[in-house]
Amino acid sequence: MKIRWGIIGCGGIARRRTIPGLVGAENAELVAVMDTNETFAKEVAEEFGVAHAFSDMDSLLALDEVDAVYIATPVFCHKEQVIAAANAGKHILLEKPMALTSREAEELKELCDAKGVRLSIGLMMRFHAYHEEIRRLISEGAIGDIVSIRSQFACWYPDIPGVWRQDKSKSGGGALVDLGVHCIDLVQYVTGLRCIEVAAFCDTQTFSYGVDDSASVLLRMNNGALCVIESNFNIPDDAVTGKIEIYGTAGSIRADGTLAQEEVGTVQILRSDAAKGYDAAQTRAGNSATCIDVPTGNMYTKEVERFGDAIINGTPSPVPAEDAIFVQKIVEAAYISEAEKRFVAV
Ligand SMILES: NC(=O)c1ccc[n+]([C@@H]2O[C@H](COP(=O)([O-])OP(=O)(O)OC[C@H]3O[C@@H](n4cnc5c(N)ncnc54)[C@H](O)[C@@H]3O)[C@@H](O)[C@H]2O)c1
Repeated sequence: MKIRWGIIGCGGIARRRTIPGLVGAENAELVAVMDTNETFAKEVAEEFGVAHAFSDMDSLLALDEVDAVYIATPVFCHKEQVIAAANAGKHILLEKPMALTSREAEELKELCDAKGVRLSIGLMMRFHAYHEEIRRLISEGAIGDIVSIRSQFACWYPDIPGVWRQDKSKSGGGALVDLGVHCIDLVQYVTGLRCIEVAAFCDTQTFSYGVDDSASVLLRMNNGALCVIESNFNIPDDAVTGKIEIYGTAGSIRADGTLAQEEVGTVQILRSDAAKGYDAAQTRAGNSATCIDVPTGNMYTKEVERFGDAIINGTPSPVPAEDAIFVQKIVEAAYISEAEKRFVAV
């Protein structure tokens, strides 16, 4: 069985990554694309041999042959589009962040549940083969009790007049909302830990737009581990790589360049001798890191395929809305922490 897909907002990430991924998914068929920019819709339909191209959402949602939609529009459009798609009985793969606020996101989840449509969120970093392997290793206790975590995701995003991402009323926030959400979701996903408290600095240091171009956020996790999330719009792309580092009482796992739009990067694991005593000289010789090497694929193909499987088999969504809502609550706590200069419980 194949899920027949329609795309709402096909001109940005959809065109660059998700549609090329979707057409490679075994259980997916692309039947319709839509974008308010008619030229984008027509071009994408031609490029991928899609039967229907629309510039209005209602025409796409009226198609009986569409089982599920992928929504990849500016954040401020998500609410109205999820409501329309759920009312039309379509399953929904919704790009991150779900909505402008966690409250709005909760309403969307409740509506999808009430309408009996499935919902999954586009936090596709989970599907990088290396991240899945890190999760497996940690669940086996490979590095002991986790005590410290770092994750960084950044890019260069200068002032561009009129763009939705630089307007808080349209994006919900800046680097933290756009990039940091991937880090926050990933650290919880791979470790199985959950954030309980947040302290943050969020600034706009380099550019003049109304959202953060720099955010450094400290999370206290439910086992006591401390975690730093760094997201920036003001570091040149070639000067930074997306990373996640997890340190435990028996070793560490360090992934460099894996937070990306392709399954790339490197991962090193170091397992230390847990029986080792105190070494005043802090000698670091003796243990050496080994590289993790597992077969990689296309995160976007997996994102579509696994959600398709969940729809077909009635199994849980691969990125449940409640996880994305919790990530959004952490982001909101960080902005409160910056504004009120205090630690915020989540
Ligand atoms: N998971 C990822 O890898 C990833 C990467 C980038 C962006 N995103 C997310 O995807 C979403 C879109 O981001 P983007 O970078 O593609 O933005 P974008 O501005 O590059 O593209 C958005 C597209 O939506 C179209 N659009 C605008 N309003 C519309 C409407 N009302 N109905 C239909 N189409 C409309 C635009 O014409 C454009 O083609 C955001 O939620 C963003 O956070 C996810």
